[in-house]
Amino acid sequence: MTITAQQRADFERDGFLVIPDFVSPATRRTLIDRATELVDAFDPDAEGSASIFSTHDQTQTSDDYFLASGDRVSFFFEEEAFDDGGKLRQPKAQSINKIGHAMHDLDPVFEPFSHSAALGEVARGIGMVDPLVLQSMYIFKQPNIGGEVVCHTDHTFLWTEPVSATGFWFALEDATTDNGCMYAVPGGHHLPPRKRFARAAAGGTTMELLDPDEYPMDDLVALDVPAGTLIVLHGLLPHLSGPNRSPRSRHAYTLHAIEAGAAYAPDNWLQREPGLPLRGFEPSVA
Ligand code: FE2
Repeated sequence: MTITAQQRADFERDGFLVIPDFVSPATRRTLIDRATELVDAFDPDAEGSASIFSTHDQTQTSDDYFLASGDRVSFFFEEEAFDDGGKLRQPKAQSINKIGHAMHDLDPVFEPFSHSAALGEVARGIGMVDPLVLQSMYIFKQPNIGGEVVCHTDHTFLWTEPVSATGFWFALEDATTDNGCMYAVPGGHHLPPRKRFARAAAGGTTMELLDPDEYPMDDLVALDVPAGTLIVLHGLLPHLSGPNRSPRSRHAYTLHAIEAGAAYAPDNWLQREPGLPLRGFEPSVA
C-alpha cells in the first residue's frame, strides 16, 4: 500500500485523502459480522444504566461509562434510541450508535486489522513518523435514527503537542449523502483549533472555546464513498456527518493514531491503564 507523492501532496493540501478499495469485501464482511456478534452479546442491564452518545452536548453525555471506555470495548446508544418512557424504540441491534474505544487492542478480530502493515504504510506515507494506534470506534449510523456528528476536529478530543492525531475512517458500507456520509472542509486543517475537550479537575469534562470563529462551511464537500474506501483525516481537519434518515445503515470503522514522540495531554478524556500500552503497526514485509 504505497502512498504516492501526489497522494501525499493532496493530503497536505486538503487535510484528507480518499483511498478507494482499501478494505476487501471479505474483510468488510468479517468486521461487520464481528460487530454484530459484539452487540448481540452486549447486555445493557449488566453494564449499568445505558450510555448515550451525542455530539450536541458532549459534556452532558460524558458519564463515567464513557470516561472509562478508553481501554475497554464499550457500547453507546443512539440519542434517539429511547422513547419518553425510556424503552428502546427499535431492537438493540438497531439502537447502538457505536462501540469504542479499544477494540483495536482487545478484540481478536479488530486487532489484526487495526495494526496491519498496510495501514502502517498509509500512516507513514502521509508523513507520520512513529504512529501509535490510540482509539478505535465502530460506528453504526443506524437506519432512521443514526445521529449526526457536528463539525469538529479530532485534535480537539485527542490533544497532543504538537498536533498528531490522525484519523483512519473505513467505509464498511456505502456512505452516501442519504445515509449520513462524512463532509469535510478542504484545507481547513490549516486553521487553528477552535475547541478543546478535556477532563475537568472537578470530574466530568469541559469543552473549552479557544477561538469563536466559525469554520468556512461554504467550502464543505461531501465524501460520498463506496464501501471499502479508506479516508485519512488530519487532526485539524473540520469534518462532520449528517443524520441517517434513510432505511439503510452506514457502518464505518475508525482508528485514530498519534505520534509516539508527541506529548499526550494528561487531561485528555481518553486515558488507558498502564497495563495496556499503545502499539503501532506491524512492520511491512519488504
Ligand atoms: Fe472525527
